[in-house]
Amino acid sequence: MDLSGARTLVVGASGVLGGALAAALEKEGARVVTASRRAGSFDAMDLERCAAVVDEAAAELGGLDLLVVAIGVAAFGPEAETDVVTEHLFTVNTMAPMAFVRAALPRFDGAGTVCVLSAILADVPTPGMAAYSASKAGLSAWLTALRGEQRKKGVRVFDVRPPHIETGLAGRAVAGEALPLKAAAEVDELVGLVLTGLREDSRELTFDLRRGEFARR
Ligand SMILES: NC(=O)c1ccc[n+]([C@@H]2O[C@H](COP(=O)([O-])OP(=O)(O)OC[C@H]3O[C@@H](n4cnc5c(N)ncnc54)[C@H](OP(=O)(O)O)[C@@H]3O)[C@@H](O)[C@H]2O)c1
Repeated sequence: MDLSGARTLVVGASGVLGGALAAALEKEGARVVTASRRAGSFDAMDLERCAAVVDEAAAELGGLDLLVVAIGVAAFGPEAETDVVTEHLFTVNTMAPMAFVRAALPRFDGAGTVCVLSAILADVPTPGMAAYSASKAGLSAWLTALRGEQRKKGVRVFDVRPPHIETGLAGRAVAGEALPLKAAAEVDELVGLVLTGLREDSRELTFDLRRGEFARR
């Protein structure tokens, strides 16, 4: 897709990755509207409100070409394995991104792109992060099925599954504490790869832990 002038909504722009992506897209000439809980736009626990955020952005931009979803929460260890925490993880990490994307689909006028940050946990479900992994795997599976449904309509679905990047996300976990995690990539590296992926209509950005490198398809 052509990023210059692209009517873009970035949700979760108060986060490290969402903020960096919004800034990079603006630098590329995209017309960016941002939304976040911190700015008072929405809380991901309110799915109807998530959909309304997309409608408001599309009205402001006169349509929509690109939706970037960068919201998410982590939880670790036995404290994460309760119904309450699992519901929280699945609402923020799975259902809210689905609500944003569903609301964006009718706003794309013939063509559009959704770029959603899931996580490497979708490919590598990890002990100590079982519910968190499941929430990201659910999102990624949904994106895969959606991609097939939307292809003929001209809508691209880009699933970004980063490895651990030091953004402070683990320290903001809704339950439990992470074991010390070694960062496998840097924020700037990921942002550069996401922008290239958008320009080239990629479907997935994954990370091979054995090789220590990203792969884009
Ligand atoms: N960093 C990593 O290692 C890594 C690896 C793989 C995937 N990811 C994914 O990348 C995305 C961005 O993560 P990040 O590293 O940039 O973390 P971050 O800086 O903590 O950003 C998380 C974002 O999610 C938002 N959020 C959390 N709970 C919310 C809620 N209930 N309602 C609305 N917004 C909520 C935060 O909003 P507030 O500012 O209001 O809190 C913030 O904008 C997430 O989906 C994450 O799972 C990150």
